[in-house]
Amino acid sequence: MKTSIFSCSERGSLKQAAKLLVQGNLVAFPTETVYGLGANALDPEAVMKIFQVKKRPQDNPLIVHIAKEEQIQELVTYISEKSKILMKTFWPGPLTIIFEKKEVVPAIVSANLPYVALRMPSHPCALALLREANVPIVAPSANLSGRPSPTKAEHVREDLRGKISCILDGGQVPIGIESTVIDMTTEPPTLLRPGKITKEEIEKSIGSITTKTTKLEEHKSPGMKYKHYSPKAKVILFKEEKDIRELLAKKQKESPLVLVYSNAEEMAHSLFADFRSADAKGHKIIFVQEIEEKGFGEAVMNRLRKAAAKK
Ligand code: TXA
Ligand code: MG
Repeated sequence: MKTSIFSCSERGSLKQAAKLLVQGNLVAFPTETVYGLGANALDPEAVMKIFQVKKRPQDNPLIVHIAKEEQIQELVTYISEKSKILMKTFWPGPLTIIFEKKEVVPAIVSANLPYVALRMPSHPCALALLREANVPIVAPSANLSGRPSPTKAEHVREDLRGKISCILDGGQVPIGIESTVIDMTTEPPTLLRPGKITKEEIEKSIGSITTKTTKLEEHKSPGMKYKHYSPKAKVILFKEEKDIRELLAKKQKESPLVLVYSNAEEMAHSLFADFRSADAKGHKIIFVQEIEEKGFGEAVMNRLRKAAAKK
């Protein structure tokens, strides 16, 4: 398959990409978090292609992206007052909200669960594409399953060229890690994946939420159990340079790379791209200095710890 690469800044490209989506093809596009791999959420055959192309396990449900609040009623059975506040406060933006789903949402989108995850992205290219397509669009991160999420069109090309119809190139994404996911079907609501919108910010708007998932909730968000975000190289975390001096000297044969970031924003912005380029350059070990696990730092450290986790 030929993969067309279009620029987000051309109006004609957006129209063409939207048409491809409506016709059941896969189109990758930038969001404010990471690049997404889009398909028409109401077309089970198109959605199936996402699982095949990404080699994604089918028990890992997808996020449905919308551009207008009117689209929500078609997809979910009930919107609580707290959910309304979240939508009003954080949409469009990097917050994914889980609701009980209506029948029109195909089982393949929600991995047979009675729930659907919704998000209204704020990236102008994503919003323009969603408006033009005028159907809800499922979009997981546009990487092969298990690889770091793509933060540039070039990363999508690396993983998916020849396998999808189109890539919309909008340059580097502004945030660099995936959206915050909150389950509003539990009381109190459950934070399932930390992201740019922090627990503290959410609690300021709707009161206390939990991060403790019960066995049932883990079953509800099966994606959490998969190893994510990992480069091929081994990732080792450290606090201070002196802690790794000896190890670094011992590991010279494995061409170690040391990554140090000055804050959470910078780490989020560069981490996945740095992982990819480390693999390309043949580094077998990556040492990454930890940052403070406060505010946005908690979400970024969550991704880093997953990358460092042994399987
Ligand atoms: O920032 C993002 O959210 C990006 C961009 C492209 O929007 N998308 C993304 O999708 O990260 P993905 O598929 O890589 O991650 C989706 C996460 C998974 O952890 C999945 O288990 C969870 O959301 N999820 C999706 N639908 C769910 C549902 N119905 N119930 C519980 N968890 C769900
Ligand atoms: Mg992903």
